[in-house]
Amino acid sequence: MISNSQSESGISFVGCGSATPPKIINNDQLGQRVDTNDEWIKSRTGIRERRVIGENQSLIDLASDAALKAIKMANWDEKTIDLIILATSTPEDLFGSAPKIQSNLGASNAVAFDLTAACSGFLFALVTASQYLASGSMKRAVVIGADQLSKWVDWDDRKTCVLFGDGAGAVAVEANKNDNGLIGYDLKSDGSRGGCLNLSQSNIFLDLVQGATYQKGEYLPIRMEGKEVYKFAVKEVPIILGELLDKHQIESESIDWLLLHQANQRILDAVASRFLIPSDKVLSNLEHYGNTSAATIPLMLDEAVRDERIKSGDLIACSGFGAGLSWGAALFYWHGPY
Ligand code: ACO
Repeated sequence: MISNSQSESGISFVGCGSATPPKIINNDQLGQRVDTNDEWIKSRTGIRERRVIGENQSLIDLASDAALKAIKMANWDEKTIDLIILATSTPEDLFGSAPKIQSNLGASNAVAFDLTAACSGFLFALVTASQYLASGSMKRAVVIGADQLSKWVDWDDRKTCVLFGDGAGAVAVEANKNDNGLIGYDLKSDGSRGGCLNLSQSNIFLDLVQGATYQKGEYLPIRMEGKEVYKFAVKEVPIILGELLDKHQIESESIDWLLLHQANQRILDAVASRFLIPSDKVLSNLEHYGNTSAATIPLMLDEAVRDERIKSGDLIACSGFGAGLSWGAALFYWHGPY
């Protein structure tokens, strides 16, 4: 577990952006492929449609697009960016996709790397970036959450294929000595429970030479025990968020927006009711995108900033959770221009 108390310097959220693929697949279309239907999916998850990357588009395209919009909102010269972190579980290159994004952005002075923590990835990456900014070693960072789970979903498994979609979101954050937009955070991992949600390698070994084998580089589709993950989320998210609110002596009535990882509307509703947060303060767009993994939080943030629901100075209570198992929470003020 890591958590912060006092930073040497604070950080400000000054830009956001998002991008999703144009191709929409609705529930009825999925019902033509697997034994499912719109009513089941909508009532159990809240999802109506999701977007899927097709030919002539890539995860790096989406992530670059989202990051460019965030940089534009922040009004930054790309050469002034010090750090780019791409939170993803679905890189185009296992050696890392972030450097390609750095090149696409023209951010030639930035160091760029990938970070993997499944659906908690964006929060983990945001907290990682905040350490560089708070320490004074860097000034400007772009944190991207982007995933293309469509390529790892078994599209013939109705228990998982209805849940996921592709997308990207990004925030621009900068060091701020006078103010701290990131009030606090807490991150957790529990590998002992990781078996209920995996995108793991296949254990295929082939002959190399006489007396030696090698492991074939190949992954199995996403496998999830939905009920276990559901129980984990509705138990752990209220605990971590509640502890964070207590630690910073913030009453839940002071929260302007509850911004949770968009996995299931029932999880959003359960967490909101635990804190007596009214539904009009609960941000939700999973109806249109499904679970885009590391992208859901910045994708939702960007939508609510651009349609002017989130205003400069609003307090946002955020929590991500997912495979690992991993989960985290953060309390922050939006300082962007809208
Ligand atoms: N269409 C129709 N029926 C279905 C479907 C479907 N798409 N999927 C499952 N069913 C059936 C099952 O076969 C089962 O039938 P049975 O009773 O005859 O066996 C029945 O519906 C109930 O299935 P459950 O799995 O018990 O359904 P549940 O109410 O638990 O909902 C769901 C499943 C939506 C997956 C839920 O458990 C959930 O949202 N879990 C959390 C997922 C999550 O939050 N993941 C986040 C992390 S993701 C990441 O980190 C990458």
